[in-house]
Amino acid sequence: MKRQEEEEDEVCLDASFFINDNYQLTTFTFGSQVLELFCLQSASTDFDLTGQLVWPGAMLLNDYLSKNAELLHGSSVIELGSGVGVTGILCSRFCRNVALTDHNDEILKKNTELQTSSDNANNRLAVEKLEWGNFDQTNQILQKYSGGFDIILGADIYILYTRLEKFIRFKGPGQCRFILAYVSRAKIMDSMVINEATRHGMMINEIAGTRSVVGNLEGVIFEVTLP
Ligand SMILES: C[S@@+](CC[C@H](N)C(=O)[O-])C[C@H]1O[C@@H](n2cnc3c(N)ncnc32)[C@H](O)[C@@H]1O
Repeated sequence: MKRQEEEEDEVCLDASFFINDNYQLTTFTFGSQVLELFCLQSASTDFDLTGQLVWPGAMLLNDYLSKNAELLHGSSVIELGSGVGVTGILCSRFCRNVALTDHNDEILKKNTELQTSSDNANNRLAVEKLEWGNFDQTNQILQKYSGGFDIILGADIYILYTRLEKFIRFKGPGQCRFILAYVSRAKIMDSMVINEATRHGMMINEIAGTRSVVGNLEGVIFEVTLP
């Protein structure tokens, strides 16, 4: 048992100390689609900003999706590691339904409320808390979306394929594809992203014409399917 003086000396650091919530309403344009959402403007070493900025991967993926919106028409989509939600929110303009997910879902909720209040018709968006690989959260999502998902999206995330296998298999072979906007930050990851998919029995293909420079990094879009 701790002595009373020890307990009084203990400093409890609330998680919110490390979150900068100085969000600014920002406009993004992708083709004919104009989106407004809250996000931070720049990175910092003082706070954990991972999911509170729009990352280069999201810019790459949104550019691709806005030019190929027919892929999304009428489909059911889940986005993993949505961050501020810029990709899922764009998709909600075209899809039947979109589940935006992240382990930190506060900013996602704020941005989703903003969309649903400014666009009354936008009841296609929902936020689901999901820590990759969390069995209970995954099952809850699959119970809610009992038809499964046609498309899984990921922008600027490094996720193990085992974490998405359940979503892919739920829909059945060939029925669900994972579209990943990959941004190269470490050479070792470049081959790993391809080799690991193959090791898990998945087919991974670079989508032609998507390799480009985003920010000052090289990015590319992959399509991953279960044959
Ligand atoms: C680099 S950010 C990319 C965010 C967004 N997709 C974009 O491109 O702007 C990575 C995102 O993955 C989320 N993330 C990281 N690890 C996670 C995990 N284990 N489970 C769920 N989300 C995670 C972070 O919170 C963050 O939002």
